[in-house]
Amino acid sequence: MNNQDKIQKLIDLRVEAKLGGGEKRIEAQHEKGKLTARERISMLLDEGSFEEYDMFVTHRCDNFGIEKTKFLGDGVVTGQGTIDGRIVYIYAQDFTVFGGSLSETYALKICKVMDMALKVGAPVIGINDSGGARIQEGVTALAGYAEIFQRNIMASGVVPQISAIFGPCAGGAVYSPALTDFILMTKDTSYMFVTGPKVVKTVTGEVVTDEQLGGASVHGSKSGVTHFVAENEEEGMLLIRKLLSYLPQNNLEDAPLVPCKDPINRLEDVLNTVIPENPNKPYDVKDVIHAIVDNNEFLEIHRNYAQNIVVGFARFDGVSTGIVANQPNYLAGVLDINASRKAARFVRFCDAFNIPIVTLVDVPGFLPGTTQEYGGIITHGAKLLFAYGEATVPKVTVILRKAYGGAYCVMSSKHLRGDVNYSWPSGEIAVMGPKGAIEVLRHKKIEAIEDEAERAAYVVQAEADYKEKFANPYNAARYGYIDDVIEPRNTRFRIIRALQSLATKKVLNLPKKHSNLPL
Ligand code: HXC
Repeated sequence: MNNQDKIQKLIDLRVEAKLGGGEKRIEAQHEKGKLTARERISMLLDEGSFEEYDMFVTHRCDNFGIEKTKFLGDGVVTGQGTIDGRIVYIYAQDFTVFGGSLSETYALKICKVMDMALKVGAPVIGINDSGGARIQEGVTALAGYAEIFQRNIMASGVVPQISAIFGPCAGGAVYSPALTDFILMTKDTSYMFVTGPKVVKTVTGEVVTDEQLGGASVHGSKSGVTHFVAENEEEGMLLIRKLLSYLPQNNLEDAPLVPCKDPINRLEDVLNTVIPENPNKPYDVKDVIHAIVDNNEFLEIHRNYAQNIVVGFARFDGVSTGIVANQPNYLAGVLDINASRKAARFVRFCDAFNIPIVTLVDVPGFLPGTTQEYGGIITHGAKLLFAYGEATVPKVTVILRKAYGGAYCVMSSKHLRGDVNYSWPSGEIAVMGPKGAIEVLRHKKIEAIEDEAERAAYVVQAEADYKEKFANPYNAARYGYIDDVIEPRNTRFRIIRALQSLATKKVLNLPKKHSNLPL
């Protein structure tokens, strides 16, 4: 073979590798409304930036006659590229090759890009579309998964890890994403389950569809397994690019500073009237968020899950910032199990990656009752407490209205090392709301009043007295627990100035192997 033939052979091999499982299977993939692994990569990355590794890898299995069928690349496309000019490592599972199922060599390819990402300090993006461990391989496929899991764990808190789910993902194919920082699913074409409906029916007798068991609607709202739900793969890619723009490359860097044309001292008069006169009336805290952040842009995470708390990324004067806000519009903004878990995970992510946290508080307390107690609200609520207390990134808190009970302590209070704590004049800071407090403190006296009208008048007066004393921010301000009471329309400026002053903050927790977070 002369040199020209050798070059031609390389070109032919590349063409073969790029066809994955072949044209028929690519067609089938397209018919399901899904893109191929390579189409996905080129859509996600900056044009022409993809550098592929291990295109010529094949599997080494000889069970069940599989040795007769080998595909170049063995079912996963791996490599590096850039997004907005910043390097990322990427792998995309190729459903056209053995249903994207994972073999020993396929796992080695993924491990290689993960090791590279850790060496250079760059994010890892995994595009998942896989039937899990390749059944013909047996234990070598299981070992491959475990090697990936180990790397997910070691990379956690060092480089951002993002998982896109663009097809059915079962078995091991869901546990690696579960170990990463963010999961994104597409509507109607992606599923995540430990095992699929066929096996569920055999083991438990339960009959469910793919969607009911593990569709985006389930994981985006009921389980909270996925952080984002996209209409389609194209929207999913845009979301991943946007998400990355808020994140640093690794835990030793800051997120990119985006030049900001939005005036930092922009006054928002509408905020002076956003809180209803009636304290039991809701409002949408997202209106407050949009009003105070740069260009009104907010990337919400877990939009349909635990909607009583809102979390996501925005910028203040170009600085990427995590926002946590109680949502009075949903269950009155109460803290329950799901809200605590959702916010705790977000706070910990921000802290791991040097992203300051702004907390907007309007919370009537923790949700009481047997459902919550049996579900372990004590442990789950403690997660949020722990996350805020452990976080050393700049923490700015604004109490908008209610800050009652344990929820006052939890929501980035001064006592959990909140750096700058403001309240609007509408702030109400107390052990509990007027109704509950009067019931506990005066129930004997109330019961002793025989005349109904007299009793009602007594309760109204007692509640009014209580409100007069506690339904304001000045008691807390007197103790220095609130640094200042601010005019709502000036909130953007006050937050930005606080964040500017905190930019050089250095706080180190005591050295230890790791904390014992209430899991
Ligand atoms: C080998 C597999 C495979 C697998 C699918 N295929 N899954 N080959 N090992 N795990 C092959 C099929 O045989 C088929 O090959 C091709 O991929 C496409 O699969 P279909 O079933 O035709 O596609 P579809 O109807 O879209 O269904 C996709 C699916 C289903 C939902 C993923 O294939 C499925 O349920 N697979 C098994 C899922 C599962 O239970 N995995 C758990 C593995 S255990 P041909 O040649 O016919 O096109 C595991 C443990 C890890 O992962 C432990 C970690 C903690």
